[in-house]
Amino acid sequence: MSSNDSNQRVVSGMRPTGQLHLGHYHGALKNWIQLQHEYECFFFVADWHALTTHYDDAYDIEQYSFDTVVDWMAAGVNPNAATIFLQSRVPEHAELLLLLSMITPLSWLERVPTYKDQQQKLAEKDLATYGFLGYPLLQAADILAYRAGHVPVGADQVAHVELTREVARRFNHVYGREPGFEESAAAAVRKMGKKAARLYNQLRKQYTEQGDVAALEQARALVSEQQNLSIGDRERVYGFLEGSGRIILPEPDALLTKESKVPGLDGEKMSKSYGNAIALREAPESVTEKVRTMKTDPARVRLTDPGNPDNCPVFDLHKVYSEDDVCRWAAEGCRTAGIGCLECKGPLIDSINAELAPMRERGERLESDPDLVKSVIVEGSERARDVAKETLDDVRGAIGLALR
Ligand code: TRP
Ligand code: SF4
Repeated sequence: MSSNDSNQRVVSGMRPTGQLHLGHYHGALKNWIQLQHEYECFFFVADWHALTTHYDDAYDIEQYSFDTVVDWMAAGVNPNAATIFLQSRVPEHAELLLLLSMITPLSWLERVPTYKDQQQKLAEKDLATYGFLGYPLLQAADILAYRAGHVPVGADQVAHVELTREVARRFNHVYGREPGFEESAAAAVRKMGKKAARLYNQLRKQYTEQGDVAALEQARALVSEQQNLSIGDRERVYGFLEGSGRIILPEPDALLTKESKVPGLDGEKMSKSYGNAIALREAPESVTEKVRTMKTDPARVRLTDPGNPDNCPVFDLHKVYSEDDVCRWAAEGCRTAGIGCLECKGPLIDSINAELAPMRERGERLESDPDLVKSVIVEGSERARDVAKETLDDVRGAIGLALR
């Protein structure tokens, strides 16, 4: 158990890359839509992150950001349930990035796996920039500005959440020793009420004096049940328990999203830049055409040639979209050459179109009312900013920049 069990805040971002596709939906959005009812969610368009790789062709970012929000809402992200906003509208992210940069060793950034990978993959771009090196630290600032407990991400982003944890730990270590910490921690403990406070103190003693780990666990559980502690007091009480200072920036957990198994039309990972994607707001005829011409097992040259569904991206799509009986029908028909590929694709086309129909409709409505979308962004950004401001006040105070 960690202090995060009681932290119900979720932050996640997405770079604006233009129209979102099925990979985004099954890999991230579906999860967000679920989370928005269970947690206090902040979802933002990471437009500054887009600049780290597209600084010299930034003209699309604004339109892409708008389209991204339309796609989110069309897919079911609800601005009344989650806070939807634009990173560049919350300058506190940048301030926190600057402050975190002071304590972040260069080597931590250089060894993030995406750093060298992306430089190689995007070799045509000059990514030997300060901004690109700092990409994961900006992500850390995005997360820590909200003191989020959980960050839903795909496997490729886990290293960034790990860096976020390390930076938070270092920050707390360097700046968490506020003057009079022991007194303010003791005052926070008293706010838990007499009975809970007595139990807490007893458990803390068992842990700090006898190293009783079970007592530590029990004390953490006790703290996590407390309803009436502010975030600051809660972190003091946790910090006091473990003998560290105050935890100003809690360490977030990565909420690993199940790897999306949605293949692109060619069997590679679905991506707009590979030209193998089906967009969320793709027209039905176009979905039909794309799936009909999708690659299949090359062994099936003629209708009478049996195939192997395990070598076929169409079958991977069945696994995402079809019930067990349809999957069995497809696999058997494939192996025995009992069905043709077009026949096999039929139920898929229907399922994809059925899934996308309501999104297309909502998307069209939103497209025709851009002011509505813009007001969602403006209001969401204000809400986000209020929260980030609170964190930054605390951060400035801890560093010693509170003079006003
Ligand atoms: N780097 C993430 C990606 O490429 C996007 C991102 C930026 C993000 N800031 C974030 C994700 C903060 C989660 C939390 O997908
Ligand atoms: Fe793929 Fe279906 Fe054709 Fe088999 S029958 S190769 S699973 S499309």
